Amino acid sequence: MSDSVADKYPNYSPGLEGVIAGISSISDIDSDRSSLQYRGYDVHDLAEKGSYEECAYLLLYGKLPTQAELTGFKSVLASEREVPDYIYDILSAMPKTTHPMDLVRTAYSALAPSDPDYTKPSTDHDANVRKAVRIVAKASTIVGNGHRIRQGLAPLKPKAEHGIAENFLYLFSGEEPKAKTVQVMDASLCLYAEHGFNASTFANRVTVATLSDLYSGVVTGIGTLRGPLHGGANEEAMHMILEIGEPSKAQAWIDDAIANKKKIMGFGHREYKKGDSRAFYMSKVAKELGVEAGNTKYGEIADILEKTMAERKGIFPNVDFPSAYAYYLLGIPIDLYTPLFVVARLAGYTAHAIEQLDNNRLIRPKAIYDGPTNLTYVAIEDRQ
Ligand SMILES: CC(C)(COP(=O)(O)OP(=O)(O)OC[C@H]1O[C@@H](n2cnc3c(N)ncnc32)[C@H](O)[C@@H]1OP(=O)(O)O)[C@@H](O)C(=O)NCCC(=O)NCCS
Repeated sequence: MSDSVADKYPNYSPGLEGVIAGISSISDIDSDRSSLQYRGYDVHDLAEKGSYEECAYLLLYGKLPTQAELTGFKSVLASEREVPDYIYDILSAMPKTTHPMDLVRTAYSALAPSDPDYTKPSTDHDANVRKAVRIVAKASTIVGNGHRIRQGLAPLKPKAEHGIAENFLYLFSGEEPKAKTVQVMDASLCLYAEHGFNASTFANRVTVATLSDLYSGVVTGIGTLRGPLHGGANEEAMHMILEIGEPSKAQAWIDDAIANKKKIMGFGHREYKKGDSRAFYMSKVAKELGVEAGNTKYGEIADILEKTMAERKGIFPNVDFPSAYAYYLLGIPIDLYTPLFVVARLAGYTAHAIEQLDNNRLIRPKAIYDGPTNLTYVAIEDRQ
């Protein structure tokens, strides 16, 4: 904010930075410690020792599941994983050049009326939880089969024994994925599952707070996530790494980018000014993948960018940066990175929508009017 705007409007915070816009018990970001907890549990414990399904259960039901509860939850997810054929017809009718984020956003919009709880009031907590489970269950099928459809391939039937990560990997490739690939994908979904009042989650809460429904909230969230300042950063980060190409070119590239005040995608964060712990974790995983694949160059490029950005700008990578080259090493097409973020974040969106609707108040902030007032209306024929 320029000094004059700050002086004129001292109570205004551009981008709502630092503004408290709600009370939530879903996740806690500790900026000083660069830590993230889901309902009191460190996200790294969940990613390393748990599974995405456990994270989703925790976010939706507020507690870690027992073994029996987790088994039951997984079997409900498996039974809800398929999508109606008309969704595939809609996706097939869209241009083959459609970005997969638009496919997944459209699919959720079209799915709403086929939910068995479609006509239930938006404040019906139990119906909302059932909707949330269906929304979470279908995402990996939509993204995996959406990818097949745009390639002109027929959708595959999801397998009941697959988890959410495995279901996506199987549908998108048509092959049984390796255990390590499933493990990395599952951990990344845990890390992406929830993140407080970020732009898309907040947008999703604004939508449901009008007493609209969970599907509308999710569609809002996906649309908001798509931009490169938010979820779209993982795709942009990979394009940037590929543009750099070789570790030997990385230093000159980043020097030039800094000199030209270029924004480095996958770096910086509104909440984490000392680093994003999810990025530390994903960097480790991505580097391990590189060693296993005999391709360490992306990790080497990343090291040069990270060191230079930290030293010269005091800016650190966010989770999108290492996730980008981890996904690349797993063979995932770049334009599926943000849709994978959706697969994960739907647990967060729906948990927030339920929390909002359980204790709802319309979200309606004010703006400072900074334009002319009390002008005299001039008839159209007399205007210059
Ligand atoms: C995430 C992001 C939008 C946070 O923005 P913010 O809190 O509004 O912070 P600002 O954009 O105001 O940045 C503050 C300063 O750091 C700089 N900065 C922030 N992120 C930067 C980046 N990725 N590359 C270069 N400079 C960056 C800004 O240019 C600004 O510098 P200035 O004060 O000299 O103008 C921002 O860091 C960004 O655009 N990052 C790249 C996109 C990205 O990775 N998004 C995913 C987030 S999970």
